[in-house]
Amino acid sequence: MRVAPKEIQTFRDDFTYSNSPQAIERFPFPFPTDEYRYSVNIEPHLPKGGEGSAYEKFLDIDEHYLSEMVERDLVLKAMPDRCLSMPHMDLACWDMIERCMVSLAEDYPDYFRLERNGDHWTWDNRLLNQKDSFVFGDSSSLPLPPLEYIGRQLQGDFAILDQRDGDLFMDAGIVTCPADWSIAFDQGMSFAEWHGPVPMAHQEGVFERALKYLTAIQVGKPVRRLNWTLTINARMDTSPETYHEWGCDRTTVTPENIAGKVYLRVELQVLDRMPRSNALMFSIRTYLMSLEDICTNPEWARRLHRVMKTLPEPLIEYKGLSRYHDMLVQHLSQFDRAN
Ligand code: HEM
Repeated sequence: MRVAPKEIQTFRDDFTYSNSPQAIERFPFPFPTDEYRYSVNIEPHLPKGGEGSAYEKFLDIDEHYLSEMVERDLVLKAMPDRCLSMPHMDLACWDMIERCMVSLAEDYPDYFRLERNGDHWTWDNRLLNQKDSFVFGDSSSLPLPPLEYIGRQLQGDFAILDQRDGDLFMDAGIVTCPADWSIAFDQGMSFAEWHGPVPMAHQEGVFERALKYLTAIQVGKPVRRLNWTLTINARMDTSPETYHEWGCDRTTVTPENIAGKVYLRVELQVLDRMPRSNALMFSIRTYLMSLEDICTNPEWARRLHRVMKTLPEPLIEYKGLSRYHDMLVQHLSQFDRAN
């Protein structure tokens, strides 16, 4: 069963964010084996895991919807350049509006309704109590620029990639909960350029193979992959722009507080070809789960221990785990009899 959005919680200051037992059960645990290495881990974005699973719908709406919309508003008010779109991406933004509104209305008819009469559309978001009529393709008929308008109603970050010369360019995006990267810094970059800081993967040809795969994605055949890192406290906005607010949190981890303070941060990334513009929409849906909650599942706890114990040093450093990695492995060893 799908869990309805719950009351508003915080991802900053007092960190009231929590996961219900149902949210723990549906968490997209990212480790299929005991060792983690970078790979081209891409599969068709088809329903998997049954009713209520994070992979059931094209866009996953869960119990944190209202909280994430409040958090997005706080970030955008403080830093409007977390939402950027170059002028040639207008059509792609309208593609995104259509794709998201149509799929949300089909997948969650109790929450979202869409009426289309030619170019005259009415969108009813019952979760946010917001109803707007507009002319499709006419930005002046919306209360906000198209990307910000739809992005403020969706969980997760979005980048829209322009495809030209066999490459992808990050020419638009709304990014308020990134795992330490910045849309303002990356805008206009190519696939290899924005992946520049990632260790090991370039030498192993991972990005070359991934780019070939992505540029061949066809309309109506979305694909997905999982990515992960660790975050201290349930903080959604771990951006370089706000590093001064969260960077030092890593020094506050102790053996006593590690279970409640360290969160596994999983990104369910979906790539979908846009029909009018030929752009790729890249959604990054972030799930945060404390070690304490993860370890209520003995298989996850054991696997997490083995993954962390064998994680290559360059990944430990790149993901920002160096300061507390030993403590983490020590903590998790209690869940693994073969430690
Ligand atoms: C076109 C869509 C994609 C976008 C917009 C994107 C964007 C990014 C960004 C911004 C980063 C952070 C880089 C930094 O440190 O500044 C990143 C990391 C990474 N990306 Fe992508 N990416 C995309 C597709 C892929 C695909 C298909 C793969 C599959 C191989 C991939 C693999 C990775 C890996 C392995 C990392 C390092 C993550 C970590 O260890 O935490 N990306 N990506």
